[in-house]
Amino acid sequence: MNASSPAMVHWNGRVVPKSEVRVDPDDRGFLFGDGVYEVLRVRRGLPTFVDRHHARLVRSCTGCELAVPFDRAAFEAMARALIAANGIGEGIVYLQVTRGVAPRNHAFPAPGTTPTVYAFAKTVTASDPFAEGGVGVIMLPDERWGRVDMKTINLLPNVLASERAARAGCHEAFLVRDGVVTEASHSNAWAVVDGVIRTHPSGPHILPGVTRSVVLEAAQAAGLPLEQRAFTPAELERASEAFLSGTTVGVTPVVTVDGRSVGDGRPGPVARALADGYARIVEADLAQATAR
Ligand code: PDD
Repeated sequence: MNASSPAMVHWNGRVVPKSEVRVDPDDRGFLFGDGVYEVLRVRRGLPTFVDRHHARLVRSCTGCELAVPFDRAAFEAMARALIAANGIGEGIVYLQVTRGVAPRNHAFPAPGTTPTVYAFAKTVTASDPFAEGGVGVIMLPDERWGRVDMKTINLLPNVLASERAARAGCHEAFLVRDGVVTEASHSNAWAVVDGVIRTHPSGPHILPGVTRSVVLEAAQAAGLPLEQRAFTPAELERASEAFLSGTTVGVTPVVTVDGRSVGDGRPGPVARALADGYARIVEADLAQATAR
């Protein structure tokens, strides 16, 4: 998109200028946060890991008893149309689905109520977190509900944690529940403890990150020791490395926790190897997307 062309968004099945969108105040997304979302990374004008994002969208919708708005092909077509309409090279596509517009009652609206589907694409200029020397995180209690494996738009605890991190001059917050680090406010959390890569296992207390799934494959391909086992704050204190994974952050090394250095305070070789492995899997995915 250039400065003179308006942002084009997807609104209930059509690509329209954003200025034409009118959100009804009775939308259940607005009133209850009753909806789910996805964020895909756009690289070289193509949406990446479409299969994995679509599978997670289906999972979130099913878990929340929402109709799935797109099959796999329509999902990709929607993302590509938005990318083209806005001339995005490097960026993201954001999609959200809510339970639609209905008079405010907690229980579901009448059958046949149409879900609201909104998506936009925007340019994100990627920096190299390794060249920049990594990022800092703070530790906070994980105050979220018990089903954060569904990617719902109820993000108030994530918003508060992210704001606290920003106020502390940090990039992210590692969240602690039942004595272990679950994940971060908008990314998954990893550490290298006693030479083993560790991350919280899948389950109701973390989002099953698409990037996380790719990093797991990269670790396996590189033959690096890995356990899907949560780490404690004490283990993090003696970790040689820590890092984040996510659609917006890729693999980002964490070099301080609450102001204390992780390892030698510089991005480490394991994070580097995983970032390289991740980049290779991204290239393979892009090659497939180009061929479609
Ligand atoms: N967040 N954990 C949480 C709580 C997240 O919100 C995210 C992504 C992740 C990483 O998942 P993935 O690798 O699929 O992006 C983990 C998105 C980007 C967001 O809310 O903007």
